[in-house]
Amino acid sequence: MMMKAIVYTEYGPPEVLKLKEVAKPVPRDNEALIRIHAAAVNYGDLLARNFKEITPRKFNMPFVFWFFAKLLFGVRKPKKTILGSEFAGVIESTGKDVRSFKPGDPVFGYRGQSMGAYAQYLCMPEDGVLATKPANMTFEEAAAVPYGAIMALGLLRKAHVQAGQKVLIHGASGGIGSAAVQLARHFGAEVTGVCGAPGLAYVKSLGADKVIDYGREDFSKNGATYDLIFDVLGKSSFSRCKNSLSKNGRYLRASFKTRELWQMLWTSMSGGKRVICALAPGSREDLLAVKELIEAGKIRTVMDKRFPLAQAADAHRYVEQGHKKGGVVISASNSGVANANQY
Ligand SMILES: NC(=O)c1ccc[n+]([C@@H]2O[C@H](COP(=O)([O-])OP(=O)(O)OC[C@H]3O[C@@H](n4cnc5c(N)ncnc54)[C@H](OP(=O)(O)O)[C@@H]3O)[C@@H](O)[C@H]2O)c1
Repeated sequence: MMMKAIVYTEYGPPEVLKLKEVAKPVPRDNEALIRIHAAAVNYGDLLARNFKEITPRKFNMPFVFWFFAKLLFGVRKPKKTILGSEFAGVIESTGKDVRSFKPGDPVFGYRGQSMGAYAQYLCMPEDGVLATKPANMTFEEAAAVPYGAIMALGLLRKAHVQAGQKVLIHGASGGIGSAAVQLARHFGAEVTGVCGAPGLAYVKSLGADKVIDYGREDFSKNGATYDLIFDVLGKSSFSRCKNSLSKNGRYLRASFKTRELWQMLWTSMSGGKRVICALAPGSREDLLAVKELIEAGKIRTVMDKRFPLAQAADAHRYVEQGHKKGGVVISASNSGVANANQY
């Protein structure tokens, strides 16, 4: 049996993404076969598509992470030829050992670096990062949730955000930042979101108490202080942000280099203001926690645009322009491009 998928066999610009017929996967005993309704386009997809161009300097992590990513993705050409790490769909069939899911169940999930969601079908192990789709979301909305929300949840947990604290999210309009804004608000913090001018209304709509356009104002020079500064993309520095941190404030980095790791070690020994560099691999438990928060109305997805599977390259082009405001999804069950901005 065959299925349609977006395949890339060389690194490069969006044009390397081609619609092809490939073998439909067959679930193992512990796996579910999922018919995909929608897969989101995120930072990791763009990075993996163009990984040949990503030098250690351009990579937002230490050299050793870049080295292992290079081995994982493929040195000269991609090893995993179908992109897409987050998705929503319906279980079509299950292996004989699967107990938690049955055919017909709506699900959403995260594949991490295994990718493979730009296709009509994929297989997921029952104990993978997979959960029943939130009842109050469409497939397209749910597809755009897992990566950003489970990364933001995992990273914010490391900073122990408390009610009443002041939190600044740098990169608030992106996949991780937009979830971090909503989660920090849920934890009871007063949230300031920093992003470019086009994303300000979007970040405000997610519940940020204040927004700052990084093109017009340097948040580290306006005299305000925060209990937590969470820099998603690593565009600031601890030395620059120090005066904007409260007495025992924390400077959390989702993207970091060796310098920040040394700063983390040093500040953990010296006390006072601290640097935290953290990884959030994402787990099934985190996805289940996110599903509960969605159903409780604490996290929502704003849809930006959706593209049919055949136009995956256009979806990448759109996201690559850098101004997506909310979910951009590739819909395996949709035939037209649609704007869906709802904020
Ligand atoms: N630690 C972990 O476990 C982990 C896991 C996954 C990813 N990451 C890291 O997270 C980062 C990707 O995050 P993401 O998926 O949220 O990215 P994204 O969706 O591409 O969002 C990027 C955000 O950064 C903002 N931004 C862009 N240029 C900026 C600048 N010059 N100054 C300030 N802000 C700027 C963007 O705002 P505008 O669009 O308004 O410019 C946007 O809000 C990567 O560096 C990746 O390595 C870390």
